[in-house]
Amino acid sequence: MLDNRVQPKLIIHGGAGSSLKGKEAVAAVRRSLYNVIEEVYDLLLTGADARDAVVLGCQLLEDDPRFNAGTGSVLQSDGQIRMSAALMEGNSQRFSGVINVGRVQNPINLAKFLQDSADRVLSEQGAAELLRELNAPVYNPLTDIRLQEWMLERQDNFDKTMAGVVAERELVKASEPGRGTIGVVALDSQGCLAAGTSTGGKGFERIGRVSDCAMPAGNYATTKAAVSCTGIGEDIIDECLAARVVVRVTDGLSLAEAMQRSFTEASHNGRDFGAISIDATGAIAWGKTSQVLLSAYHDGDRIGDTLEWQGDELTNFVV
Ligand code: GLY
Repeated sequence: MLDNRVQPKLIIHGGAGSSLKGKEAVAAVRRSLYNVIEEVYDLLLTGADARDAVVLGCQLLEDDPRFNAGTGSVLQSDGQIRMSAALMEGNSQRFSGVINVGRVQNPINLAKFLQDSADRVLSEQGAAELLRELNAPVYNPLTDIRLQEWMLERQDNFDKTMAGVVAERELVKASEPGRGTIGVVALDSQGCLAAGTSTGGKGFERIGRVSDCAMPAGNYATTKAAVSCTGIGEDIIDECLAARVVVRVTDGLSLAEAMQRSFTEASHNGRDFGAISIDATGAIAWGKTSQVLLSAYHDGDRIGDTLEWQGDELTNFVV
């Protein structure tokens, strides 16, 4: 506790998927994630609320071309970038988001704007209209490496169903699938929780495919717990993962138990994803069925990460 206040907690992710290639790649991703953790945790220490901290964290991760959200988003089958983002604040238990929006630097800002709107989840045309209304500058989130990946796949007639691992700067070959999204979960000094998630999608998907990211399956928060997911959106939707964990905490399980039970079920069902979470007591937990989860956290004392977390456990936590 800080005076009468709660010790803030923070966890972020930059995707889940196949293992990073080599120590240098791990070190580079760690640097990116720690920079975000440090800036957002400093904000939380000033007394900022969880929602603002989550938005800042998502903006920073969207702006880092290493990750598949905002700048550096993967291309869909028709060569276009369509991004999705969602924000949920625990106290108001209010979800907002955008689905398949293009030409904007920070999709999370649209989700933030929609928090106070009567219509809180907008898809393509509606999201584009909102951008116009807000006079948001037109922005192209395309990076050379994403374009090269798409062109490589086009030669192979898109026989891969998922773009390469998000956090690697080298071109990813079709035989090395991975997936990504970014996400932030925070507990602020008033004890409020929030979660935000943002993605460029799976990459190479059909036009109109909808990500889990802007659904409660992929991003959910109440006064009890908050969760952000990453990985194959269809798997996350089928498990309704984020809401499932939060409901289990609401029904009395500890966060560690709720994550463990949910990931055990997911593993039996052959799912491929990861998730990060915090509960109202300040417990931080993460889980994966994929090979790697690119996540880092601040537990109030120190920064840690999950980049080299391997082995048979599906979940882990700090309290
Ligand atoms: N989880 C990101 C997506 O599948 O769209």
